[in-house]
Amino acid sequence: MEHLREIAKIAEWGIKGDSARVRAYLNQLIEKLGQAGDEKSVERLKIVLSDTPNAIQTSGLGIHSRLPVDGESRLSLADEETVDAANFPIVLDRETHTRIEEFIEYVGKADELEAHGVGMAPSLITFGPPGTGKTQLARFIAGRLKLPIITARADTLISSFLGSTSKNLRSLFDHVSGRHCVLFLDEIDAFAKQRDDHQELGELKRVVVSLLQNLDAMNSDTILLAATNHEHLLDPAIWRRFTFRIPLSLPSYEQRVDLLRLFLGAFGEGVDVELLATLSDTLSGSDIRTIAQDAMRDAVVRKKNTADERRMVFRMLSARLKADVEQTDASADTLNKVQSINPGYFTGRRLAHIFGMTESKVSRRLKKQGGKS
Ligand SMILES: Nc1ncnc2c1ncn2[C@@H]1O[C@H](COP(=O)(O)OP(=O)(O)O)[C@@H](O)[C@H]1O
Ligand SMILES: [Mg+2]
Repeated sequence: MEHLREIAKIAEWGIKGDSARVRAYLNQLIEKLGQAGDEKSVERLKIVLSDTPNAIQTSGLGIHSRLPVDGESRLSLADEETVDAANFPIVLDRETHTRIEEFIEYVGKADELEAHGVGMAPSLITFGPPGTGKTQLARFIAGRLKLPIITARADTLISSFLGSTSKNLRSLFDHVSGRHCVLFLDEIDAFAKQRDDHQELGELKRVVVSLLQNLDAMNSDTILLAATNHEHLLDPAIWRRFTFRIPLSLPSYEQRVDLLRLFLGAFGEGVDVELLATLSDTLSGSDIRTIAQDAMRDAVVRKKNTADERRMVFRMLSARLKADVEQTDASADTLNKVQSINPGYFTGRRLAHIFGMTESKVSRRLKKQGGKS
């Protein structure tokens, strides 16, 4: 009987209840039938593939958890997780939000798009400064797609034996091929970054070429996500492989308000979020999260229901001014620096409130400082 191998595999994994493997072998069968010119069967099976929901969510516990390892170190080349989008909420500006929703919708309707000749490679890259939510966004997308996310480990993939890097890339891409999953190349520039050592340049070029070859051989079952802090370091050919290119920037005032509300949750009750959002200008979402978590930890051990606003104010000032700012340090210099963050907002009255002193004292100190300079 023709195609018995695929059919037996589909039956075996169907009985064992591994939807991802059933789909993978079904895909192989479809491919073979396509090669044999049996278009009718191909169409029929494609409908089964797209219209049948998975019986169970295959988690990292199945056969797939045997992720490929580096030949030398035996360390895993990737991590696999199944995530719930609700655990990875993301604050985005409106335009970015729209584009992400568009990507998710296109991936969900891939077959339909394909049928009309407007299919696309399901790939998306995010870029921008550290701490702006690039890694978070990849998890969010995987959660929304209800697909396992396989995150490549650049540190293991980039073998100290440079010749092994291409081999590692191939094992990883072989592993995901035919699997309905998200492959996430976090900090993708690590694969394409130039090194000072000229002897290694040729080898690194080969790594880029090998990455490109692997990307080109991917089938559209695997959703490709990537992120980078250094988009200018990325090889332009790799950059062009991504259908969606999404910039993430430091959060705007409105986004900082949303982030603070998100991070503080019930601990934000009665906290002046507008003040904190004003103060946290130029900080990243990650910085804001660190400060919010510190305040929540403090509230928990002090058995308080609310985060200490003043504590957050001073942590933010310290982060902004890149120096420790103490609540007690209301020196003319500190007052001046804080005021210069946003002179319209940090009036004498606000400064007096923040530092717990009278307004006239604040203005006296500021005047003295102004006179000195
Ligand atoms: N735009 C954002 N929306 C929601 N959370 C964010 C955002 N930016 C940063 N964070 C928080 O900061 C943490 C670190 O962000 P991360 O995604 O690792 O940033 P990046 O990958 O861009 O360096 C996240 O886990 C998340 O809690
Ligand atoms: Mg990251």
